[in-house]
Order: sequence, then structure tokens, then C-alpha cells
Amino acid sequence: MNQHARTISLTVNGHAVTAAVAPRTHLADFLREQRLLTGTHLGCEHGVCGACTILIDGEPARSCITYAVACDGRSVTTVEGLDADPLAAELRDAFSAEHGLQCGFCTPGMLVAARDVVQRLPDADDAAVRVAMSGNLCRCTGYVGIVNAIRRVLDARKPRPE
Ligand code: FES
Ligand code: FES
Repeated sequence: MNQHARTISLTVNGHAVTAAVAPRTHLADFLREQRLLTGTHLGCEHGVCGACTILIDGEPARSCITYAVACDGRSVTTVEGLDADPLAAELRDAFSAEHGLQCGFCTPGMLVAARDVVQRLPDADDAAVRVAMSGNLCRCTGYVGIVNAIRRVLDARKPRPE
């Protein structure tokens, strides 16, 4: 460990964590290498692809451009922390049903971002979903299955007419 390592205390997936991190360590490396939470993927490592999307205090963030030391006192949730989340479960089922993944590399970030979109934009049409998800790149699917999966969850949550 770097002699300039700093001790941080944060919550990761509901668990209190205290750890020493080098100031330059980004949150994704901290999660993957020190917490062994490898569900957070690294693609571009410069804030473009969205593969590393996690939640900080409930808001989506790119863990590759967030310093771990900046998360002192914060609450971080990775895709593993959404295992028991009902909305994440709906989205996982919908991604499977609608072929919203192929290699799956983008999928953890897609699920985290999609969950935020469903919560924030319950009336989104497909065009709005595409705009809202435009910070997450997928090299396999062509996006149709991903949009259809989110559409399926949005539609299922709409109140049904009497
Ligand atoms: S790995 Fe973080 S945005 Fe691409
Ligand atoms: S499923 Fe392969 S990158 Fe999206």
C-alpha cells in the first residue's frame, strides 16, 4: 500500500467498511480489487461507456472517474447490492426475456442505470428511454432489446384501467 494511503469509512452494499486506499485509486478498482465486487465492470475507464455505473447515496455514478477517497462517509451500492431489490429483479427478468444482453459486459451498468430511469421517468416513451440510457454503451445488442426490456418494466408498473 502506498505510504500516502488514507483510511476511509463508507457503506458498501449495506455493510460498513473501513479501508486504506491510495489517493489515486478509483472507486471501481477499490470495489473490484479490495472488496472483490467484480460485478462492476471496467470498459473505457474514462467516464464514457457506463459499464462501471454504481450508486452513490442512491444516485448513479461512474465509479471509474470517482476517487475512492471521495466516497468517505458515503453509501455505495453495486449491482451485487441489488440482488434482493424487487425492481432490479424485474429488470433482470425483462433483460432476459427481451434479449437485452449478449456478452453481458455492459449489463451491470445497464441494470443500475435502467433502474434509475424506471424510478425517475415512469412515463418515458422509447425515445426518452434511449436518451436517458445514452450514457451506457453496448457493443452487442443494438439496444433494441435493452429498450424493450425497460419498456416492459415501465409498462408493467403502470396502473391498469378499471
Ligand atoms: S469504465 Fe467507467 S465509464 Fe467506462
Ligand atoms: S451485451 Fe455485450 S456489450 Fe452489451
